[in-house]
Amino acid sequence: MSLFIGIDLGTSAMKLLLMDETGTICNTVTKAYPLEFPKPGWSQQDPKHWKQALLEGVPELLTGFDGSQVAGIGCGGQMHGLVVLDQMDQVIRPAILWNDGRTASQVDYLNNEIGREQLSHWTANIAFAGFTAPKLLWMKENEPENFARIHKIMLPKDYINYILTGVHSCDYSDASGMLLLDVAHKCWSEQMLALCDIRREQMPTLYESFDCIGTVKPEIARQLGLGVAVKVAAGAGDNAAAAVGTGVVGEGGCNISLGTSGTVFISSESFGVDDSNGLHAFAHADGGWHLMGCMLSAASCNKWLLEDILSTSDHSAEQAAIREEKLGSNHVFFLPYLMGERSPINDTDVRGTFIGMTMDTSRADLVQAVLEGVAFAVRDSVEVARSLGITVDRSKICGGGAKSPLWKKILANVLNCTLEVPVSEQGPGMGGAMLAMVACGQYETVAACCNTLCAVAATVEPDPELVAKYEARYQQFKKIYPALKTLFPELQ
Ligand code: XUL
Repeated sequence: MSLFIGIDLGTSAMKLLLMDETGTICNTVTKAYPLEFPKPGWSQQDPKHWKQALLEGVPELLTGFDGSQVAGIGCGGQMHGLVVLDQMDQVIRPAILWNDGRTASQVDYLNNEIGREQLSHWTANIAFAGFTAPKLLWMKENEPENFARIHKIMLPKDYINYILTGVHSCDYSDASGMLLLDVAHKCWSEQMLALCDIRREQMPTLYESFDCIGTVKPEIARQLGLGVAVKVAAGAGDNAAAAVGTGVVGEGGCNISLGTSGTVFISSESFGVDDSNGLHAFAHADGGWHLMGCMLSAASCNKWLLEDILSTSDHSAEQAAIREEKLGSNHVFFLPYLMGERSPINDTDVRGTFIGMTMDTSRADLVQAVLEGVAFAVRDSVEVARSLGITVDRSKICGGGAKSPLWKKILANVLNCTLEVPVSEQGPGMGGAMLAMVACGQYETVAACCNTLCAVAATVEPDPELVAKYEARYQQFKKIYPALKTLFPELQ
């Protein structure tokens, strides 16, 4: 029986899984690594930690299994991160991540001087601080000596693929988030490359996510405990990979991910742009396209409050203290903008905010406000999709936050949407392994693989009474950011 390795290259950890041909997950390993915040709103990570996680994680994953049975590897990775290699393929500087806000002035230049319409015409998207092109402009301006040394540009999971195969590759779903891809035509945008002073040969070769980019190099295969000729799929951005893992492919599916980031992902068979640019228009890992809203802080808000501020790791105990009758009746609100925000407000200055506390406010109220604030922010992106005529009354859910029954209940009621919980919560890792299966010829298409392997384990239905209460709360939540918006830049 063939085995497949799926890798989720996350922001806080690499999660690896071993899957057999029937889709059964045989083993999982998590390798955590550090994240640097060198200045408020900046976020970077050294790719050497990813490499180390790979080199230690795969042998651990294969312990007790026959590594020679592994046929393929696929990776879903954190998107947008700028990884730059020199002539010797050495990493030039730490990767600037998807939730980094240092490029506010480059984003202003792109959106206002080059112009949103022009950018959208070239790339189907406008500039956001986390996207890769503004980071290149930032590097050129602030680190010209590093910029001059750039031989190859890639995204985080492409660095893993490079370590495995020696091939400089990128898939369309991840490349879409660079603001360097002509998404509609699936090729690099010559105009954007010129604007960023980047030559075509500095860019990696483009592939569909399910294409095989090459095989694992013999010396790496030996080190990892693999056999010969293990195929590596091009892989995908983590959200596209997660959508594959939850079976959201083809027309009109929705997946919500509550990870470090929060995303609303709507799959489509045809290319389409959100003219308001509230949602990103990207390629999907099944060969189609998707629209996506991305919140920069989702499960990370809960982790921040509980672990960093309240010094507890017992999330269940904190949530158990939230009384049923308090749902929809909390007078405390939380704006979940700890790293600024991307969708739909595109504001690098905005910050996390608690508002509405009184002397009787409890610890549980604050914990609840964080869960609700994230749900309201997810609703903001869902509302943009609904305004485009897209029906969102049913969605898959994945990511660490989806483990909490309370959070799922709050979200289902805030969105007035049925949530479907997949059998496997391992979104991007599962999707990565499935892309490897297609790359190895196990399935002809990603959709066929999803049809066979993705099942729903449980559903969470909204309750009309709670929906009405949360509707009133959401209308209040919506007024908070506009009222405070102009204050945040002054507070920097
Ligand atoms: C998507 C985005 C995040 C990262 C998280 O646009 O920036 O979801 O991919 O890993």
